[in-house]
This record gives sequence, C-alpha cells and structure tokens, in this order.
Amino acid sequence: MLTSIKTNRLTNKGQELGMMYFRVAIILFGAQLLMGLIAAIQFIAPGFLFELFDFSVARMVHINALVVWMLYAMIGSTYMMLTDETGHEGVALGLGKLGFWVLTAAVTVVVLVYIFVQVGPGKESTIWLINEGREYIEAPRWADIGIVVVVLIFYFNVFATYIKGKKTGIMTVMVANLLALAGLYLAGMFFTDNISMDQFWWWWVIHLWVEATWEVFVGTLAAYALIRLIGAKREVVEMWLWIEVLMLFGSGILGMGHHYFWIGTPEYWWEIGALFSALEPVPLIAMFVHVLYDWGKEQGIAAAKGEPKSVITNGPAMAWIVLNAFGNFLGAGIWGFFHTLPQVNIYTHGTQFTAAHGHLSFFGAYATILIGMMYYGVQKAYGVKRMKSTFKSKMGIFLTAFGVMGMTIALTIAGYEQVLVERAELGGTWNAFFVAQNLPWYVQAQLWRMIMGVVTLAGFVYLVWDLLTIGKEAQEAEA
Ligand code: HEM
Ligand code: HEM
Ligand SMILES: [Fe+2]
Repeated sequence: MLTSIKTNRLTNKGQELGMMYFRVAIILFGAQLLMGLIAAIQFIAPGFLFELFDFSVARMVHINALVVWMLYAMIGSTYMMLTDETGHEGVALGLGKLGFWVLTAAVTVVVLVYIFVQVGPGKESTIWLINEGREYIEAPRWADIGIVVVVLIFYFNVFATYIKGKKTGIMTVMVANLLALAGLYLAGMFFTDNISMDQFWWWWVIHLWVEATWEVFVGTLAAYALIRLIGAKREVVEMWLWIEVLMLFGSGILGMGHHYFWIGTPEYWWEIGALFSALEPVPLIAMFVHVLYDWGKEQGIAAAKGEPKSVITNGPAMAWIVLNAFGNFLGAGIWGFFHTLPQVNIYTHGTQFTAAHGHLSFFGAYATILIGMMYYGVQKAYGVKRMKSTFKSKMGIFLTAFGVMGMTIALTIAGYEQVLVERAELGGTWNAFFVAQNLPWYVQAQLWRMIMGVVTLAGFVYLVWDLLTIGKEAQEAEA
C-alpha cells in the first residue's frame, strides 16, 4: 500500500487519489482503535488518565475518528471506481488532489486540538475553534466550512466526470446519492440552543447517513465490486441495486422516527418510527442474498463450464465483502431491530445495548466493505491479475471480526443487565444507574469488552501488515 506511491501501476489520477485517501483512512482507523481502548480501560479503572485524557475526550475522538476515516475511505472508493465506471480519465482531478491536502491538513489540526486542547469554555469561540459538541460530527465550525468546500470539489470531480463519461446505472446511483449524502451534512451545521431542535436536525445527518445514504453507497460499492471481483453480470447487479435503493430509502428515511421517541418531538413519531424502522432490515436481507447469490451463481457457471478454479480475482477483498453482507444484516438489521420498537426502546435506550448495536453495525456495514475496497486498490496499484489471501489477510479478517463480535456480545450482556436491574427492577432512577454499573454482570462484561478490543487491535495490526505486503508478494508470485 505504501510502496505503491512510487512504483504503482495505476492507470489514472483518480485511482491514485483513491489510494491517497485510503492511506489516511487506515491511519485514522488505527487512531480510532487506540482511543477506544483508552475509553474501555476507563470503564474498568475510572482513574486511568483522569484529568489528562478523560473518558469524554477519548470517546469523542474515538467516534469522530470513526466517522472521518469512513468518509475518507468512501471518497477513496469513489475516486477508485470513478474513472473505471465512466471510462473517462476524470475531470479536474488536480483540483481534487489539492482538496485532499487541504482536507488532510484540516483534519490533522482538528485532531491535535481535540487531543491537546480538548474542551473550551462553551462560548461561541469554542464552537468555532475547538469543538461543536455534536456527537460523531464534532468538528469546529471553521473545519465544517472547510469540509464543505473540499466536498464541493470532490463532488465536482465526480459529477463532471460522470457527465462527460459513460453513464452506467451504478454511477447514476452514486452521483445522485452522493449529492444527498453531502447535502445532509449541512443539517448538522447551524446552531440552535434548543436541545430538541438541535437533536431533531442532528439526526438528519447521523441517521440519514448510516441508514439511508451510506447504505445506498454500500449497495453501489458491492455492485461494482461484484462485477470486478467475480465477474458478475452488470444487468443482474444493477437490477438488484435499483431494488435495494428503493427499499433502503423507502424504510430508512421515515425510519428516522426511532430517534424521535424521547427527545421532545410530537408523539406521532412513535408509530412512524416503529413502522418504518421495523422495515429497515428487509433491504439488508436483500443485500445479503444478492452478494451470496451472485457469487454462487458465477461459481456454478464456471463449474458447469469445467473450470473448477475460483471465480474470485481478489481473495481478501471478496472475503471482506462477504463479511459485509453478514455484518450489515446482523449489526444493523438484527441488532437494530432488537431495540427499534418504542415498547422495547423505553427499556434499552441509552444502555450498553445501544453501544453493542453501534459497534456491530458500523463495523459490519461499513468498515468491512471499505477495507475490501482498499484491497481492491492494492491489487490495482500492483497491477496483479489475481490476488490470493495470505496468512496475514486471514488473521486480519478473523481477529478483527472475532474481536468486534466479542465486544458486541459483551456489551449486549451488559445492556441486558442494565435493562433488567436498572430499568425494570429499580425504575431507572439515578441510584439505579450506579447499582447496575457495579454488579458483576456489568463489570465482567466491560472486562471482556476490553479483552476483545485488544483482539480487534491485533487483527488490525495483521490487516495493516498485510495491506503493506500483499501486493508485492502477489506481484512476485505472478512474475
Ligand atoms: C449500518 C447501519 C446502522 C448503523 C451504522 C447504526 C448505528 C447506530 C448508532 C451508532 C447508534 C447510537 C447513536 C447514539 O449515539 O445515540 C444507533 C442507534 C439506534 N439504532 Fe442504529 N445503526 C444502523 C442501522 C439501524 C437499523 C437498520 C435499525 C433498526 C432496524 C437501527 C436502530 C437503532 C435504534 C432504535 C437506535 C436508538 C437506540 C437508543 O438510543 O435507544 N439502527 N444506531
Ligand atoms: C479496540 C477496539 C474498540 C474498543 C475497545 C472500543 C471501545 C469503545 C468505548 C469504550 C466506547 C464508549 C461507549 C460508551 O459511551 O458507553 C465506544 C463507543 C463507540 N465505538 Fe468503539 N471500540 C472499539 C472499536 C470500535 C470499532 C471497530 C467500531 C466501528 C467500526 C466502533 C464504534 C463505536 C461507536 C459507533 C461508538 C458509539 C456507540 C454509542 O454510543 O452507542 N468502535 N467504543
Ligand atoms: Fe437510526
């Protein structure tokens, strides 16, 4: 992944830009995990780094790094496929490169401020210079504006290239969806001191990203990847994609109501949120079936032709994409459905159950497929026809997936205990919160979460090691 900076076999600037975004993404992913571990240790030893690097700060950097690395990897993936899908060399990519450097410089400053300044006095200057205080998207106002400018450049690259090049179904969905995705960011930018109104709009970014526009993005990536990695038929893949898009938007947009149960919004959101969010797992099942069906079909056709060899041209990328199919369905679909009805959510809201779902869904639905795209980028950068999984690839995928699943199970148990003791038995009082936090089920679950976090980190180390070496190894093997 690194050596390819100089010796890459990429055929155009778009793909080079894609690799640049991937490199920053993986570094931020590492930072995210380290911050998560600090926060996890603080659950067990609350005095750890107290007043030096408090839980609130570690948690904040953990989830902001998460969102930023995923956006980086999404922009990278888009640049990666842009020139390929449109058959055009790309419009104004030099400007895109400038945008990359501006964004990366801004992100570096923001992260340094998060780490060293941490908090402000809560005045206008804090919002402008330090931290906006909106969970997941805490970038200060100056950076917000910078992000909007860079995203406009990025979108111009994509849109202008699309207009000039071939207009495939995948690219059409991509271009329309990116407009919605980028536009929604604006909903999280203006300031109001009414907390209900603030949350109302903030969810437009968070929910309408992860449960609508990001999911559609995953649909387009999976469609593209299936064509490239196993030679799936474009007509079949694009037909699936349109159905998925319809179902994702059909359930995801009003599904937002499941965040409007307890924040002071009108009560009709209970019914709307319950009904539409309960439908959200349906497209995730469709996406799951789609990936496995196409894979089985292509392999079956090859076998019928008497070609017993695997149809997969990039082993690790395909492994991560298949993991995505499972992870998206489990983390978002199942773990999301668990607590999406108001009758259940009244007990689970704000317990570790939410965190269990947050981990499995972000990892399962997004981390997986974006890592798959990184492997695809590495294959292109080294110009190899077939890239097989190595021992390191397998350890990377196994340990991270096992670790995240372990954390999810531990947090689910902690959440279950909170529901029973804190909410049902003791009535959700202030005191009940502390009683529940000190019982063995909770304490042990937090310990297991930390252990599984270390397992995840070990997987990440293998993953990075593999990304750095697999391309060269495959190149040598092919030669
Ligand atoms: C990949 C898609 C998804 C991701 C990344 C995701 C992530 C998250 C995260 C991080 C939270 C916690 C937000 C906070 O800080 O308050 C959350 C909350 C929630 N999610 Fe999801 N989610 C996804 C899909 C779904 C789906 C499909 C459903 C329902 C079927 C669902 C149901 C919920 C509910 C009900 C809550 C509110 C929990 C509470 O605070 O009581 N999610 N989600
Ligand atoms: C080394 C592994 C990790 C550890 C130890 C860890 C630990 C933590 C901790 C302690 C929190 C704060 C929970 C709270 O406020 O109660 C947190 C929140 C969160 N983490 Fe992680 N994490 C890890 C990896 C990940 C990964 C891989 C993802 C997703 C790709 C992720 C996504 C999140 C999300 C979305 C939240 C907010 C959840 C919510 O408030 O509902 N984390 N993590
Ligand atoms: Fe949601």
